[in-house]
Amino acid sequence: MIRLERVTKVFGLITAVDAVDMEVPSGSVCVLLGPSGCGKTTTMKMINRLIAPTSGRILVGGVDTADIDEVTLRRSIGYVIQQIGLFPNKTVEENICVVPDLLGWDRRKSRGRAAELLEMVNLEPSIYLQRYPKELSGGQQQRVGVVRALAADPPVLLMDEPFGAIDPINREVIQDEFMKLQAELKKTIVFVSHDIDEAVKMASMIAIFREGRLIQYDTPDNILAKPIDAFVADFVGSDRTLKRLRLLRVAEAMMTDPPRVRAEDTLDAAVRLMEEHAHTSIVMVGPRGRARGVVRMDATRGKHGTVAEHQEPLPGVVNVKDDLRTAVSTMFTHGVTWLACVDDDGFYKGYITQRNVTQALGAIYRNR
Ligand SMILES: Nc1ncnc2c1ncn2[C@@H]1O[C@H](COP(=O)(O)OP(=O)(O)OP(=O)(O)O)[C@@H](O)[C@H]1O
Ligand SMILES: [Mg+2]
Repeated sequence: MIRLERVTKVFGLITAVDAVDMEVPSGSVCVLLGPSGCGKTTTMKMINRLIAPTSGRILVGGVDTADIDEVTLRRSIGYVIQQIGLFPNKTVEENICVVPDLLGWDRRKSRGRAAELLEMVNLEPSIYLQRYPKELSGGQQQRVGVVRALAADPPVLLMDEPFGAIDPINREVIQDEFMKLQAELKKTIVFVSHDIDEAVKMASMIAIFREGRLIQYDTPDNILAKPIDAFVADFVGSDRTLKRLRLLRVAEAMMTDPPRVRAEDTLDAAVRLMEEHAHTSIVMVGPRGRARGVVRMDATRGKHGTVAEHQEPLPGVVNVKDDLRTAVSTMFTHGVTWLACVDDDGFYKGYITQRNVTQALGAIYRNR
């Protein structure tokens, strides 16, 4: 969808962007990552021709952008600039509707859409639509900036550190909201960040820049598992294996169809089941299959009776949708080597062990 061919930008003595070749497939999120001054913003601005390349070609949807009228090009590309850049003398609503109005869209429709989008980024339309930018916090302004870029429903979005001014907790919330939005809208997005965690979370592909050069262009997992050189390894951090844990869900690593017992079962039956599976503990489920407790082999030795009499509370539970980082963290919090995995309704779906986590990391490494 977006294709850069040997794209270069020279400012006087500085080569800000140096012969970059890159392809961003339709519907994917490409994160440009690298230290300050490495050429991320310049690369992005060349895509909508706010900056003209010194040499090389950029194609959007197969068309050379040099052949498209600049205004037409920019209206088809949503842009969230690094400094937010809301018009100070326009209300939030007017800011959001700038491009739809320019395009002559039905005013009622675009105002309705503005309210909808604002709600999606957790800003209450009835409060914020009529405010001016100076009456908003930096993070709120950034969210309006994101909404403004989406308002005309462009197929391509350029976002330059769009969440940079938002505090870490709200940033995670906005990132999650944005990814939900993206799963629906399937825009082709070029996203600048210098936060590796943000990149790993959002990106289909990560492009690592250094001094204007594209050093590695790869999936988040390959960037973390197989950094191409010491610079990339250093940039992604010595905890890169822990970061990879975020890329996998519990459901992908857990053991499914686990053995289970019920309150009314005998302890003998529970022990037999544990022996059969070579397990040292077994989960007790409720009448409909919700995880309710655990029976441990070493606490039952020489005892008899029912499961109900000998069960203990589950030390830790993890949701099948959680990532492996959450699973490992929960294991360490409770000092256990396995966890029961449940769905949103608490139904027992499987269990995950430390070994499963290690194997999952090995598997994604081998698969790519
Ligand atoms: N208009 C300009 N004139 C001269 N040099 C420029 C211009 N714009 C950018 N540069 C230089 O080009 C290089 C790349 O700048 P760019 O803004 O693309 O970096 P960046 O990766 O976006 O950095 P940051 O993370 O700080 O935003 C820098 O050395 C910068 O000083
Ligand atoms: Mg920049």
